[in-house]
Amino acid sequence: MNFFLAKKTLLYVLLSGHKYGHRIHSPFVYDLITTVFRAKSDKSQFKKIEKRRAELKADNTEIEIQDFGAGSVRNASNVRKISYIARTSLSQGKYARLLFNLVNRYKPSTILELGTSLGISTAYLATANPSARVVSLEGSPAIAAIADKTMLDCSAGNVEIRVGNFNDTLSQALTDLQNVDFAFIDGNHTKDATLRYFEQIYPYCTEQSILIFDDISWSEGMREAWEQIAADQRVSISIDLCKQGIVFFRKGIEKQNFVVRY
Ligand SMILES: C[S@@+](CC[C@H](N)C(=O)[O-])C[C@H]1O[C@@H](n2cnc3c(N)ncnc32)[C@H](O)[C@@H]1O
Repeated sequence: MNFFLAKKTLLYVLLSGHKYGHRIHSPFVYDLITTVFRAKSDKSQFKKIEKRRAELKADNTEIEIQDFGAGSVRNASNVRKISYIARTSLSQGKYARLLFNLVNRYKPSTILELGTSLGISTAYLATANPSARVVSLEGSPAIAAIADKTMLDCSAGNVEIRVGNFNDTLSQALTDLQNVDFAFIDGNHTKDATLRYFEQIYPYCTEQSILIFDDISWSEGMREAWEQIAADQRVSISIDLCKQGIVFFRKGIEKQNFVVRY
């Protein structure tokens, strides 16, 4: 954990108030907390995905990756073991289940993911609503090929993985999807890129859309990007979970930012 993240995490633990939904007057947010954040997941439904994760964690094959994003702070080489990527880059436990629970609760018809990696979060998103169309973008061909196998192993037949730099693939994905009901932005964690993706995706959002940003406390720049997005007048409800930030555009509710302990 880097110093910035450690400081933010400590502040979050001290300041986050809404662990159980007490003192929340917004019915929408109360429902979100009780039915999504506090949902008890039946973990047996994730068996195939977690079996695939375990295989990836045990696979020491080396692959060549192209790093388009903010990059790994731990490893500057472009040859990585699959096991290393599986241990360091993928959504873990409760955060993966949160993606599943959000999709399961709100049933988005279209899901966009920026940053497929080995396909673990993609599988959680896709299996939460098998009738959704899921488009997931990944820059590294070798990583995307492994994610394709993850989709097969997890019976996630509703996913299209598109390979290329987000700069080249995002606008076509948006045109094809027409509306983005749900987006998980989990790649290229820099302030400028995060704000750019928000602006690019927003015109495709509706009042019902949900955007979830990963690693919002990973660096000062990511934190600034999150704070700017949360303060944006187009956003009605924003939820700060320290690691992830979620925004909603629902109308008719007072604009508010919640720091929720998760
Ligand atoms: C943190 S990982 C995604 C993890 C995955 N969502 C999960 O939770 O299982 C980020 C991925 O985004 C990809 N990426 C980063 N910046 C990119 C860019 N500008 N264009 C395309 N892919 C990019 C990286 O190759 C990496 O595989």
